[in-house]
Amino acid sequence: GLTAKEQLDPFVLIKDEVSEVTDRLRSMVVAEVPELTSAAGYFFRAGAEGKRTCPTVLLLMASAISMGIADGLENKPRARHMHLAEITEMIHISSLIHDDVLDDADTRRGMDSLNFKVGKKFAVLAGDFLLFRAFSAAVSLDNTEVVSLLATAVNNLVTGELMQMSITPAQRCSMDYYLQKTYYKTAALISNSCKAIAVLAEQTTEVQALAYQYGRHLGIVTAPILFAMEEFPEVHEIVEQGFDDPLNVKTVCIASVFF
Ligand code: FPP
Ligand code: MG
Ligand code: MG
Repeated sequence: GLTAKEQLDPFVLIKDEVSEVTDRLRSMVVAEVPELTSAAGYFFRAGAEGKRTCPTVLLLMASAISMGIADGLENKPRARHMHLAEITEMIHISSLIHDDVLDDADTRRGMDSLNFKVGKKFAVLAGDFLLFRAFSAAVSLDNTEVVSLLATAVNNLVTGELMQMSITPAQRCSMDYYLQKTYYKTAALISNSCKAIAVLAEQTTEVQALAYQYGRHLGIVTAPILFAMEEFPEVHEIVEQGFDDPLNVKTVCIASVFF
């Protein structure tokens, strides 16, 4: 039995199913070439899986919207929801692997990044492979709307990354630009996947839209520096100077706390 505290912990509630998802992920990344299998499975190894927030959120969403509906139904959607959790996690990991190549990052999740471990070329291919595997699994769900939602999410991830790379000084100070880029980079995958959960559960368009909004709000982070800029105009000047000077970092951090 669970203690009272554990019953309130979302990660504990869904723990067994998430570890089932993790096991399945390991078997889904098996490739013809052993080097590709180990590269693609790098972040699915025991101890390397991270917090698994995506599958946890999606399975909790699935529970919330299926309450009282799935009971007694012949065609229970839970297995399909678990597949969607696997697919979303694979897309998420592939985006992190490509991100670390683009950022030349040596670490991820407190360990070596995949590019650091196996080199850029292998890392790019492992990310591609995961993305392809994710979409193959999505096609097996036999629901074109779900495939389309996931395609939108990947399109948004790429767009968000490009918006970040090509930002102009004026765009850097724009709340609209920041929110759009942040939505694409950090919220589009979870919001579209939450909606896909509702679609798979054959929920109404109203519930689908609510699921989408839940994911959107969860994914978008706050914009402390932009709010600070609204409050303290002098922060604007510092942001334009950039953050090579550690004093600028310090000043903006303090301003963000007090905005
Ligand atoms: C992390 O940002 C990066 C993302 C959340 C998305 C990256 C998206 C791509 C590389 C586009 C390609 C997408 C796919 C699906 C292959 P960060 O660098 O700001 O943060 P972090 O490195 O500290 O996590
Ligand atoms: Mg990065
Ligand atoms: Mg990046």
